[in-house]
Amino acid sequence: MRLGSIILFAALCAFTAYYVYEPIPEDIEERWKLMLTDAFFRSLSHLADFSELVGLKDYMGVMYVITLIENVVPVSDEHVMVTMENFDGVEVVLYQPKQQSGDDTEPRRAVIYLHGGGWCLGSSRMGPYDMLARKMTIELNAVIVSVEYRLAPAHHFPVPYEDVYRVVKHFLQMGVLAQFSVDPGRIAISGDSAGGNLAAAVSQQLLKDPTQQIHLKAQALIYPVLQALDLNTPSYQQNQDMPILPRTLMVRFWSEYFTSDKAFFRAMMANTHNNPESSSLLKFVNWSAFLPEAYRRKYNYSAPTVVHGEAEQEFGTSEPSRSLADPRASPLLVPDTALHSLPKAYILTCEYDVLRDDGIMYVTRLRTAGVAVTHEHYDTGFHGALMFTVWPTDFLLARRMTDNYVKWLKENL
Ligand SMILES: *[C@@H]1O[C@H](CO)[C@@H](O)[C@H](O)[C@H]1NC(C)=O
Ligand SMILES: *[C@@H]1O[C@H](CO)[C@@H](O)[C@H](O)[C@H]1NC(C)=O
Repeated sequence: MRLGSIILFAALCAFTAYYVYEPIPEDIEERWKLMLTDAFFRSLSHLADFSELVGLKDYMGVMYVITLIENVVPVSDEHVMVTMENFDGVEVVLYQPKQQSGDDTEPRRAVIYLHGGGWCLGSSRMGPYDMLARKMTIELNAVIVSVEYRLAPAHHFPVPYEDVYRVVKHFLQMGVLAQFSVDPGRIAISGDSAGGNLAAAVSQQLLKDPTQQIHLKAQALIYPVLQALDLNTPSYQQNQDMPILPRTLMVRFWSEYFTSDKAFFRAMMANTHNNPESSSLLKFVNWSAFLPEAYRRKYNYSAPTVVHGEAEQEFGTSEPSRSLADPRASPLLVPDTALHSLPKAYILTCEYDVLRDDGIMYVTRLRTAGVAVTHEHYDTGFHGALMFTVWPTDFLLARRMTDNYVKWLKENL
C-alpha cells in the first residue's frame, strides 16, 4: 500500500515535471492554468504519436478526443432558437434570436461562423462555440450560421473549403435571407484559426463570382492561418514551442489538410516544401516587406529554399504541390487587385502564436490595397485563447477577446 503510494507519487511528479514545465513567457496571465491546460494537450499529442507509431489509430484520430469531450447538444433556450439545418448538402447549426413580444420583425444581422481546429479537429457543436454563438445571437440580435464543414484527413483540401463556400452561396440568396428575416446588407463571415482561413478565402472567392449579387459587409478573422509557403516567419520561430499550437502541430495541420503523405509533412517541417510554382508566389508572403519593423524582431529574412530534383519529383505534379499555390488554401497569395474590393476586416492577432505574422501580413496587405482594417493585437495573448471560456479552462483573456470582438461586430455590422 505504502510502496504503491510512493510509486504513484513518483510517477505523478515525473509526469508533472515532464509535461507541465515548459518555457511559458512570464507576462502571460494565469500562467499556471495555461501550463496545466497545455500539459493536457501535450500529453494527448504524445499519446497520439505513440498510437500512430504502433498502428492503433492515426494521430488526428486520437487528437479528435479534444472535440469529443467538449461536445454539447445545441438546444434552444428562452432567448435563442437553435435548429440543425442542411444548406445545400452541408450541415449547419442555426441560431436565431427569439422574437420579443410586440417587436415587429426588423431585419436582423447575420454572421456565418467557421470553427477552428486546423481543418482536422473541432465542431460547431463544441461548448465554447455554442456559447459564443448564443452570445452573438443575443448581443447582436443576429442569426448565426455555424458551419459543420467536413474535416481532413478524411476530406483533404478543397473539401472543407468547398463545404463552406456552398453554405455561403446558399445562405446569400434573397429568398433564404427573407426566410430568416436577415438584412442582406448586414452579413459578416468570421472564424478562428483554420476558420479564419476559410473566412478569408471565401471572402476573396465570392468577389470573383459574377453570379453573386448579395455581398458580405464584413470579415472578422481571429488569429487566422493565411499561408503555407513560409513556415519560418519570425512568429513561427519565436513561438515554436508555445502552448496549444506548437509549430509541429501547425505544420501537421497544414500537411494533413493537403495530403496524408508523411514526406510532405517532413518537407514542411524543414520549410523545403516549395516547388517552382509556389516559389513564384513567395513575394506575397515576404515578411521582410510586410511585417512592420517592430514585429521582425531579431530575425533576418531568408526566403524558403526551393528544392529541385528529388523533392520536385516527389511532389512536383502531385495534389499537395498544386494546393500549395492555391489562394483558397493560402489567402495571402493574391495580388493587391484581388484584395481592394474586399469587405472591411477585423483581424485579431496574439503575440505568442506561430500564426501572428500571417495575420499581421494580411493587415499590411489589405491596408495597402485600400481595405479598412481594425487590427487588435494581444501582447500577452496565445493561440486558441478565445476557446477557453468554459470551466476549468476559463481564461480572463478569452472573455476580454470575446467582448472586444463582439463589440467590433456591433459597431461595424
Ligand atoms: C523580400 O523583400 C525584401 C525587401 O523588402 C527584398 O530584398 C527581397 O528580395 C524579397 N524577397 C522575395 C523572395 O520576395
Ligand atoms: C541578422 O543579421 C545581422 C547583420 O547581418 C547579424 O548581426 C545578426 O546576428 C543576424 N541575426 C540572426 C538571428 O541571425
